[in-house]
Amino acid sequence: MQTPDLGGSARLLERWFSRHQRPLPWRAGYDPYHVWVSEVMLQQTRMEVVLPYFARFLERFPDLAALARATDDEVTTAWSGLGYYRRAKMLRAGAAAVMERFDGIIPHTVENLLTIPGIGRYTAGAIASIAFDERAPIVDGNVARVLSRLFAHEGDAWPLAEGMVRASRSPRALNQALMELGALVCKPRNPTCLVCPIHEACVARAAGRIDDFPPAKPKKPTRELTIPLYLVRDRHGRVLMRRASGTLMDAMYHLPHGDTSLLDGEPFTAERRELLGTFRHTVTTRKIEFVVYAATVTRRPAGYEWIAAIEEVPHPSYVRKALRLGG
Ligand code: ADE
Repeated sequence: MQTPDLGGSARLLERWFSRHQRPLPWRAGYDPYHVWVSEVMLQQTRMEVVLPYFARFLERFPDLAALARATDDEVTTAWSGLGYYRRAKMLRAGAAAVMERFDGIIPHTVENLLTIPGIGRYTAGAIASIAFDERAPIVDGNVARVLSRLFAHEGDAWPLAEGMVRASRSPRALNQALMELGALVCKPRNPTCLVCPIHEACVARAAGRIDDFPPAKPKKPTRELTIPLYLVRDRHGRVLMRRASGTLMDAMYHLPHGDTSLLDGEPFTAERRELLGTFRHTVTTRKIEFVVYAATVTRRPAGYEWIAAIEEVPHPSYVRKALRLGG
């Protein structure tokens, strides 16, 4: 089996990154706190969604100390709409751990980074290499795809990432080049190999087998469900909401709804209702069709609160989508 020249490929990737990288906000100074926040946000969320949240989050929590001092609710509120809210709480807990155990200085090494709550192998490698230019490998979905194709390799990509970062001159540039190449060029479908800086070294391409790498994973079955939602306002325009206690949606504020399987709490019975519209929403493997009604109640039901300003309470993004339908 042919093996690409690691040093040569690393050099080509580093040069390509210096010319073609996107001007992302944390790339201006590679502040470790900024790198950390960006990596956690990017873990399950696309770049174009992350960028405005990143800017607002840093306005709200400009440094590690500010984040460490915040409450879970404040952090979850700033995270509202990004999904996977556990990430936000872990980030805050991680900031508090750095304040307590590392004097507020984010550590450089993977070994120390791994002792911080919420930081696993990927995030430790990303902070060490991107913020501190340490020789630490990283593998995310993009990197795994690029390396799987470059080496025509089916298994674990971590040893390949390790080999590449060892052969690099700048771990910071090399790791980001692998991610950036996966996002912009070596895409899951229809990769643009003609503009790829390492297409001549790519083993899968030489074999005409780009589409065989990485091997397709069996998909988790998706579940489709329909959930009625009720927009209920009082005469001040406040919206009726209920704070959930379940773990799936953490302690977020929800609209009254007619479902027990996904959203927490008793199904709500509207007194009078009028259809406002529908929208689709996906949470992990659940495809939900929300059917939104304007409804009225004569009295505030037990367990519910009137919320005047949605931006001030933690809420999942379906809430904003429903409010956009009016009512
Ligand atoms: N995806 C996750 N982290 C990234 C980064 N630092 N650059 C580009 N894409 C990314």
